Amino acid sequence: MQKQQPLAFEVRDSGIAGKGAFAIRPITKGEQLIEYVGERITHAQADLRYDDESMDEHHTFLFTISSRMVIDATYDGNESRYINHSCDPNCEAEIENGRVFISAIRDIPVGEELHYDYGYERSGDETEEDERRYKCLCGTAKCRGSIMEPVSVFKARKRKEAAQRAARKRAAAKKAKQVKPAAKKPAKKPAKKPAKSPAKKPARKPAKKK
Ligand SMILES: C[S@@+](CC[C@H](N)C(=O)[O-])C[C@H]1O[C@@H](n2cnc3c(N)ncnc32)[C@H](O)[C@@H]1O
Ligand SMILES: [Zn+2]
Repeated sequence: MQKQQPLAFEVRDSGIAGKGAFAIRPITKGEQLIEYVGERITHAQADLRYDDESMDEHHTFLFTISSRMVIDATYDGNESRYINHSCDPNCEAEIENGRVFISAIRDIPVGEELHYDYGYERSGDETEEDERRYKCLCGTAKCRGSIMEPVSVFKARKRKEAAQRAARKRAAAKKAKQVKPAAKKPAKKPAKKPAKSPAKKPARKPAKKK
């Protein structure tokens, strides 16, 4: 079995929020630092576990990996769950075949806090209360004020989704036009020896191609 590399960071109190992860050796751009692990659950299960509305300040160890699945690092999680969000991050979280890996996107000196952009997906109907709940405290010059994705990113995604829906609709309509009408079943099975043989069976017309 491969020996596990010691972590490049330690967990301690953070100036951003609660605990954070801090480099304990110089980290090089591109280094994969840790896998975000935990229990894999559905969004519905996550909603049952955590009711955002009842939280004064949002706090969970959830990571969305797809429209179906979420990793809940409250259970079976490791140190990765303490990596905070920043709007000007030094790391990124990449999803590969359903697994999440945190990597450095630039060189990081000893002592610097590690962070990646959580970019929580917006639904578009966020209230002022939601904005307050997801307020970002990263304190960087590039802070957008929210742990949620930028509104511009949300709008671009919605435009892309609408365009994809329209393209799918157009493709379905085109396909429907091209589909051959099903051959009509004869009303009755012709008798082996028709009493009165028809003069000649007309050749079946080929369906029109549009
Ligand atoms: C995965 S945990 C990160 C570890 C957390 N600091 C702790 O001590 O448990 C995610 C939570 O940390 C907090 N958090 C992380 N980054 C933040 C930021 N930039 N601004 C405000 N809160 C943040 C939020 O409460 C968020 O729900
Ligand atoms: Zn910020």
